[in-house]
Amino acid sequence: MTFPMYSDRINALPPYLFAAIDEARDELIAKGVDVIDLGVGDPDLPTHPHIVEAMQKAVCDPGTHQYPSYAGMPEFRKAAAEWCRKYKGIEIDPATEVLSLIGSKEAVAHIPLAFVNPGDVVLYTEPGYPVYKIGTLFAGGEPYPLPLKAENSFLPDLDSIPEDVLKKSRLFFFNYPNNPTAATADMAFFEKVVKFCKKHDIIAVHDNAYCQMAYDGYEAPSFLAAEGAMDIGMELYSHSKTYNMTGWRLGFAVGNKDLIKGLGKVKSNVDSGVFDAIQIAGIAALSSPQDCVNETNKIYEERRNALIEGLTAMGLEVKPPKATFYIWAPVPKGFTSISFAKLLLEEAGIVATPGVGFGDAGEGYIRFALTKPVERIKEAVERMKKLQL
Ligand SMILES: Cc1ncc(COP(=O)(O)O)c(C=O)c1O
Repeated sequence: MTFPMYSDRINALPPYLFAAIDEARDELIAKGVDVIDLGVGDPDLPTHPHIVEAMQKAVCDPGTHQYPSYAGMPEFRKAAAEWCRKYKGIEIDPATEVLSLIGSKEAVAHIPLAFVNPGDVVLYTEPGYPVYKIGTLFAGGEPYPLPLKAENSFLPDLDSIPEDVLKKSRLFFFNYPNNPTAATADMAFFEKVVKFCKKHDIIAVHDNAYCQMAYDGYEAPSFLAAEGAMDIGMELYSHSKTYNMTGWRLGFAVGNKDLIKGLGKVKSNVDSGVFDAIQIAGIAALSSPQDCVNETNKIYEERRNALIEGLTAMGLEVKPPKATFYIWAPVPKGFTSISFAKLLLEEAGIVATPGVGFGDAGEGYIRFALTKPVERIKEAVERMKKLQL
């Protein structure tokens, strides 16, 4: 036997496309180059003080030190349901229709384990968050990407799916506001998804991780507000981007009680819930006035405008996105997403993510994350303007 013996599912994982870029970035930094990293979708701003203070207090209370409940503290589930009512206009029963999450990533990975049998098809939008595909593969399912194209406003064409694929389809992952395209979806699209999923007996899972990062007065709707969505769907919310809490690992799933129960069954067998002190901090985030979210969005909006201005000056066609903290820009003629990312890094010291890293349908695009102060973004723009394209 050769050691280590990885499982077939690990050996089947696609190669890590960003490894080469990470390596090249680290080499430049080691050489003393002033690299501006707009690659990672991780807020650079700290968690808001009232949330940190709630955690400080909670962690000192020995009552938080034992195993948490699998489903989440009743107070956390109540706060999540109340938040959904207040900000998304949906009625959720905290007793049966909410589940606490250790961030929404684990839910994406665990949902196929709850609902997908080997050979079942899982539909997902591509370019997209890589875990839709990987979670499907881990469960023995067959991932079926639905390409997001500019000409369709980065919405999937549900009518393009062949009948034999539909027959085997069990689950559909979609995500608006979208990472990486920054596209948004309206209620008409969500209503179409409900009809589609009901017709073909497919579970709808809407990943709403970016719903509170919105600009120009835009408010991202809940999929569950679409008529009939609670019959067939669930929605994932995350504290990560909304409250600058990526490191805390907190979120919640809401939706159809049988679906919530199925996810809960998997989770109760692989994890033991979220540390109560983190849930208490999460309640502070959900239940306090949301000024902190608006303030953060103003910061991202200024960064967005600075980057859009620069990209437009370079001749790249990019509309200012209404939501998320990403800019999804087509690469200049003659480049692939990887060759343009390489040029940005080597000639301008800027890290951006090649679109193909989000699946083949992301080829031809590059993603910038607005995760550096506006002065650094302006500096990046100045450097980009000097590039010979
Ligand atoms: C579309 C999408 N969904 C889910 C996640 C997972 O976020 P978290 O696990 O921090 O809630 C991310 C993280 O970047 C994401 O981009």
